[in-house]
Amino acid sequence: MEEFHKTRRLPPYVFEQVNKLKAAARAQGADIIDLGMGNPDLPTPPHIVEKLTEVVQDPRTHRYSASKGITGLRKAQAAYYERRFGVKLNPNTQVVATLGSKEGFANMAQAITAPGDVVLSPNPSYPIHTFGFLMAGAAIRAIPAEPGPEVFHALERAVIHSVPKPIAVIMCYPANPTAYVADLEFYKDVVAFARKHDIFILSDLAYSEIYFGDTPPPSMLQVPGAIEVTAEFTSLSKTFSMPGWRVGFAVGNERLLAALARVKSYLDYGAFTPIQVAATAALNGPDDCIVEMRNTYKRRRDVLVESFGRAGWNIPAPEASMFAWAPIPEKFRALGSLEFSKLLLEKAEIAVAPGIGFGEYGDDYVRIGLVENEKRLRQAARNLRRFLETADETLHNVVPVSAAR
Ligand SMILES: Cc1ncc(COP(=O)(O)O)c(C=O)c1O
Repeated sequence: MEEFHKTRRLPPYVFEQVNKLKAAARAQGADIIDLGMGNPDLPTPPHIVEKLTEVVQDPRTHRYSASKGITGLRKAQAAYYERRFGVKLNPNTQVVATLGSKEGFANMAQAITAPGDVVLSPNPSYPIHTFGFLMAGAAIRAIPAEPGPEVFHALERAVIHSVPKPIAVIMCYPANPTAYVADLEFYKDVVAFARKHDIFILSDLAYSEIYFGDTPPPSMLQVPGAIEVTAEFTSLSKTFSMPGWRVGFAVGNERLLAALARVKSYLDYGAFTPIQVAATAALNGPDDCIVEMRNTYKRRRDVLVESFGRAGWNIPAPEASMFAWAPIPEKFRALGSLEFSKLLLEKAEIAVAPGIGFGEYGDDYVRIGLVENEKRLRQAARNLRRFLETADETLHNVVPVSAAR
């Protein structure tokens, strides 16, 4: 059947292939340890759930809600930015609540992109960074995901060689899938570049609260003048373990946010009011639940890195996010990330996300999510040890490496 114009631009979802294998293995009774998804497994804190169940009793909350978010929610987000980053925002003009930050990105792409506009996006990166804009008609040009001088070389080249000139650059730190983090000095240079060339910055700060060192990840908006060119997205999905609730935010530049709010007003009526009220309670509430979740992810990270390391797979310890970005063990590297992920699933009963699913420059890596408990991670390490011990035999039996790529 002939594909539609938009769907033709969406390659088959790589993760689907691993998911299918995972489902088939489970149907056969295999105990798959699923580290493949970025889907938080911890429950939403009880005080937030209680607020939802209380508010939903009031029939007035059952009507259509406010597309850009109820006033209290936008004020709570502005208060979070002031408390956490020292950034003052006008909740009426510089804050929009979105139905999750993924949808927020997609809606922003619809709002600001003309067909053929060039958008700069990290590779590898979270797929909506690229496909949100592709679906909106943009042409994507890749920049390195790792913050450093190479990013600026790529940005300079993009400005010289892209016709038309890029309209926006996407930044995501702490990064999915790579777990790279950026500091304020890097952001200062990004903002200076964007202002000089009149390019918007779309910053994805979904992992603002999932960090393991002493320095919390900064906001792009902490850079003086950033608001002239920047919209930044945050999410309650990871911070409060609310992925299914679909609450996120865009904040920052008024022109960008007005465009987003306008497009959204045509597309949605906002999240269900009780969800918005509960989200307000989350943002205004105690932050010990955030600290607790952060500590849980940190313990899992330590167990993962230590136990996988002892099993023979050295994985750099991520400083933030809920992922480890693991170089494929040397012996298996030539297989590429999809074949390696399939092998790991079949032989070690561990599901991971193949790096290629996040962009071609991710193919030497797999992403491991910290989404199973410590006991299960240790079990994964035991499976892994057996898998690595029989690596030569396994490799002997798989398709010749040259054919696998
Ligand atoms: C970098 C990044 N941005 C955005 C999202 C989506 O979050 P939300 O649930 O707010 O749509 C994710 C989810 O995995 C993510 O990793």
